[in-house]
Amino acid sequence: MTEAQQTQLQQTQHGLLELISIRAGYGTIDVLHGVSLDIQPGQVMALLGPNGAGKSTTLGVASGQIVPSAGNLMLMGKEVTGTPPAELAKAGVCLIPEGRGIFPNLTVMENLRMITFAGVSFADVTERAFAQFPRLAERRKQLAGTLSGGEQQMLAMSRALACDPAVLMLDELSMGLAPIIVEELYEQVGQLAQSGLSILIVEQFAQSVLGVADEAAIMAGGLIQRIGAPDDIAEELTEVYLGIT
Ligand SMILES: Nc1ncnc2c1ncn2[C@@H]1O[C@H](COP(=O)(O)OP(=O)(O)O)[C@@H](O)[C@H]1O
Ligand SMILES: [Mg+2]
Repeated sequence: MTEAQQTQLQQTQHGLLELISIRAGYGTIDVLHGVSLDIQPGQVMALLGPNGAGKSTTLGVASGQIVPSAGNLMLMGKEVTGTPPAELAKAGVCLIPEGRGIFPNLTVMENLRMITFAGVSFADVTERAFAQFPRLAERRKQLAGTLSGGEQQMLAMSRALACDPAVLMLDELSMGLAPIIVEELYEQVGQLAQSGLSILIVEQFAQSVLGVADEAAIMAGGLIQRIGAPDDIAEELTEVYLGIT
């Protein structure tokens, strides 16, 4: 977050990123039916729910890729509904999509170089990436597609971090990764949050996200069904997956 953004944030009473009564979908069909979420500065929010619940659509709205049919998107207290994704990214909203959005046929260094267009120097990008993820430095010349799943996720995260986000959104961070790697990545996520970054993590099943989350929400059927402390949400998750709600 830049100093100007911090000052702006302190002057407002609002959350960092706020979705207010969002309806959105594809074509004329809404799949979100009034979703409200409020992410506070430095907070890790976990958004959990079964396949098709509307989690990725929610991130699509939050990152400006999907324009809601109703409701408001607020960034640092300022209305940004309908703002193009590139502009939101510049303002500090950063999404790591499902599948990680890296270039498999480029090396680690080349992947990192792809982001220097954003106005950050290549030296800064690599310095930051390798400080956060020393493993990437060892693999700098390797094709991204041949990295382990965990290393690919680290690369995706360092590309995102290079844009100096105010809020980082991760879609299914743990997908396809061994539990021990997921634990490692969540430790990194926890560290990032301690440095003041706000994080919204979407997961389908991974209860391990609750260990680093400050708040958790369960989504099903295009609605937030529950929101609360991670411990309380953990208990309710089973019910949601069994369809009891
Ligand atoms: N590109 C798309 N076009 C049409 N419908 C979509 C598209 N993407 C997702 N959907 C539908 O929207 C609903 C919510 O999907 P999604 O947000 O991807 O859920 P989740 O990420 O929780 O699995 C689903 O019913 C899905 O079929
Ligand atoms: Mg999804």
